[in-house]
Amino acid sequence: MTAPWWQSAVIYQIYPRSFQDGNGDGMGDLGGIGQRLDYLAGLGIDAIWISPIYPSPMVDFGYDVSDYCDIDPRFGTLADFDALLAQAHARGIKVLLDFVPNHSSDRHPWFVESRASRKNPKRDWYLWRDAAADGGPPNNWVSDFGGSAWEWDEATGQYYYHAFLTQQPDLNWRNPAVQAAMFDVMRFWFDRGVDGFRIDVLWHLIKAESFPDNPPNAAYHPALGEMHRVLQLHSTDQPEVHAIAAEMRAIADSYGATGRGDRLLIGEIYLPVDRLMHYYGRERPEMHLPFNFQLIDAVWEARALAALISTYEAALPPGGWPNWVLGNHDRPRVATRLGQAQARVAAMLLLTLRGTAILYYGDELGLSDVPIPLEQERDPRGLREPGLRLGRDPVRTPMPWDGSVHAGFSTAQPWLPLNADWPTRNVARMMQEPASILRLYHRLLAIRRAHPALAIGDFALLEADGDVLAYERREGAQRLIIALNLGGHPQRLALPRDTTDCRLLLSTLAAAPLIESDGLLLRPDEGVILAA
Ligand code: GLC
Repeated sequence: MTAPWWQSAVIYQIYPRSFQDGNGDGMGDLGGIGQRLDYLAGLGIDAIWISPIYPSPMVDFGYDVSDYCDIDPRFGTLADFDALLAQAHARGIKVLLDFVPNHSSDRHPWFVESRASRKNPKRDWYLWRDAAADGGPPNNWVSDFGGSAWEWDEATGQYYYHAFLTQQPDLNWRNPAVQAAMFDVMRFWFDRGVDGFRIDVLWHLIKAESFPDNPPNAAYHPALGEMHRVLQLHSTDQPEVHAIAAEMRAIADSYGATGRGDRLLIGEIYLPVDRLMHYYGRERPEMHLPFNFQLIDAVWEARALAALISTYEAALPPGGWPNWVLGNHDRPRVATRLGQAQARVAAMLLLTLRGTAILYYGDELGLSDVPIPLEQERDPRGLREPGLRLGRDPVRTPMPWDGSVHAGFSTAQPWLPLNADWPTRNVARMMQEPASILRLYHRLLAIRRAHPALAIGDFALLEADGDVLAYERREGAQRLIIALNLGGHPQRLALPRDTTDCRLLLSTLAAAPLIESDGLLLRPDEGVILAA
């Protein structure tokens, strides 16, 4: 049996406002993505995941959806989307959309109806509760973006629940009518030909039915953001969510036999590994890939990484396929967390671990978090808790394509500033530089594609000591050794006794490392792939 396409895949996340502007308004759009498909095909990725492109007031930049079955005019039209899908498929690139089922925009007609009166048939589509005895919110739940998660509605005299912004009311997923409507949304896009979804905050969908207070978080510190004041024990990760995830999977699977093969579901779930694993599905299949965010928070030290990888691998349920990611539109960029030198090593790690890899746009350029002057801050996450610098604008800045005006991103002033180093850190320039991180990404992707051992092979740890992390990947007779120097000093690594004749496939640095008969000399910040 051949592995499904998504197991060996590398998926590229596009933040559509910031990828490429096609209509000259300073914001990215579908036409822009279409212009850059050749770049993506050349890079060697298998699929793109596009953050939300649906009609939206854009209070949370598209994660506040006012119509699940259309395209926001800022991004284009349904016809533009169909065209993009066809162009992508023509290049062998699959397309995943971002599905945002937990909450809608407060401008969604469903919510407009729901808040119209207590008797409205859609009242129960959202989470309405009476005030507490003192008139305050029904419980102590805190919004992920700070402040109470309850908003008072004067007209109907009740509170509604919003895990995020007040403009993002949570849907009532215990209501079968909500479930049916949302499952129809999935079918709408599957019927159009999309290859899958990244599902936003999947673990949030169901809340404890009696809405008990959440326990206080003993480790809370104000700098963490107010959401950490309480533990989200009753507001997230409830047992009933799994039947819903399984239903979503059944819908995806019902399309598997038609057309181009499996449709993929990736769940956004921030939970400890043991709980994360439940989202593969215990009674029925759920997510193909519950997002594994551990590398984003990892301590960059060999033993810590090895423990993280081994624990994760060991926790996978039978048949559960791993996945790895270094960044996304919510978290600090890898080049900022680790620095430029280790961003290259991290790229090698990401693309040689066992599992589907998801890249965040711009990471292939070593893009860093771009400091955003206060007056240019746009992200509501930052604006709601000023002073804590929790805003995500720095990781959402325009993709720098070339040395022309506005880095080729737009003919107009971009909606967020470019990276200050864009005259040198841009795609066109870095394609010309053999040692650039962009060219390294190209090579890594090509090697991964050419070696089943990397794409789908077994994983075994060889060494984790100090700054050296080494492991092997095997598939059939193919055996590759990956050795990473996580620090700034040269390191010596003994090669396994049963390896003779190791051949260098790739170093993250220019020039070849020193391979001796029984060992390898790793230069500072060097990662290598050897064929053994
Ligand atoms: C997810 C998204 C994030 C968004 C939030 C609310 O965590 O990744 O960008 O703000 O959900 O939809």
